Amino acid sequence: MKKYNVGIIGATGMVGQRFATLLENHPWFNVKVLAASPRSAGQTYEEAAGNRWKMSVPMPDPMKNMVLLDAAADIDKIAGSVDFCFCAVDMKKDEIRALEEAYAKAECPIVSNNSAHRSTPDVPMVVPEINPEHLEIITDQRKRLGTKKGFIAVKSNCSIQSYVPALHPLREFGITKVLACTYQAISGAGRNFETWPEMVDNLIPYIGGEEEKSEQEPLKVWGTIKNGEIVKAEKPLITTQCLRVPVSDGHTAAVFVSFDRKPSKEDILKRWAEFSGVPQELRLPSAPKQFIHYFEENDRPQAKLDRELEGGMAVSTGRLREDTQYDYKFVCLSHNTLRGAAGGGVLLAELLAAKGWFD
Ligand SMILES: NC(=O)c1ccc[n+]([C@@H]2O[C@H](COP(=O)([O-])OP(=O)(O)OC[C@H]3O[C@@H](n4cnc5c(N)ncnc54)[C@H](OP(=O)(O)O)[C@@H]3O)[C@@H](O)[C@H]2O)c1
Repeated sequence: MKKYNVGIIGATGMVGQRFATLLENHPWFNVKVLAASPRSAGQTYEEAAGNRWKMSVPMPDPMKNMVLLDAAADIDKIAGSVDFCFCAVDMKKDEIRALEEAYAKAECPIVSNNSAHRSTPDVPMVVPEINPEHLEIITDQRKRLGTKKGFIAVKSNCSIQSYVPALHPLREFGITKVLACTYQAISGAGRNFETWPEMVDNLIPYIGGEEEKSEQEPLKVWGTIKNGEIVKAEKPLITTQCLRVPVSDGHTAAVFVSFDRKPSKEDILKRWAEFSGVPQELRLPSAPKQFIHYFEENDRPQAKLDRELEGGMAVSTGRLREDTQYDYKFVCLSHNTLRGAAGGGVLLAELLAAKGWFD
């Protein structure tokens, strides 16, 4: 596989720092450009982000002295020196939409962690094991944008990355309704306990916009391409409650599910054990070998013990049992800044590279 030069837009932020650490020794991707807001532009990465470094591993040495560019003012310069960019910025939605389209129009593909374009009908929102075929919509998106190479591809919200992978291999039984309560880590808000001490010994029963995303995004991921758009699936009915909990990393979901044709418990465990997708077939560098791990122990999965499974790219499930109102209930967990954010973005970029979309 050829090496691709890449940029990280929003490199100083929580997700951007994750990208930096994941890409340090990546076999296919070489970080050539780091960019952030005008506040950081002109400073070295170490000067701009050293004192707000939130990763447990140190800032990659080769990136420390890279001078940050201005994500908006330097678009042409950035687009001219990389094959594509990862993007994770904290800006207003309309500003992010405009910024990402400006990169695409400058012929720089964008692999985005932001939510701004998730509902754009010709922007694929891809969980690589679930809907890799949605990348085909890029051809229609390029027509709309008038680009040859540039496009935007997004990953889904971190909250759905725990329960959608667990539900996906069960769709053959006709999922009719889902109730999911999510218990989300503080890193999902770009924070840790130092910067958010109010979260110690606390729980906040509200995360702005999260329930709408958690209910709607699965339907796009399960949607179909028709006339140049991704048309959302009509089923299942999904309702959610999303809570912020005092956990550093790892989103847990408690899920209730009903089916048209109720499977046995063994059927479900077999589908989870056998669930493998294109990333596993293609042996993409960041793909977990076993996507879904089931724990038999009643007190698992636990965020602290199990979030790092397979480099934080696997999903763990547990406590599968019959329910009195729904057919089944279970618990699942995924690492929100790895599988749910930067890791999911890197895996999506690997899929795009392997399928030739950056060439
Ligand atoms: N944290 C998660 O688990 C998670 C999961 C999935 C998706 N996301 C999404 O990823 C994005 C970033 O999240 P985060 O947690 O990494 O946020 P963050 O820690 O607050 O970082 C924000 C980044 O955006 C940059 N930025 C802010 N204003 C800008 C501007 N006007 N022009 C260019 N860059 C600007 C910041 O640069 P400066 O340092 O120069 O200000 C910084 O690099 C958000 O859209 C978020 O919704 C986060």
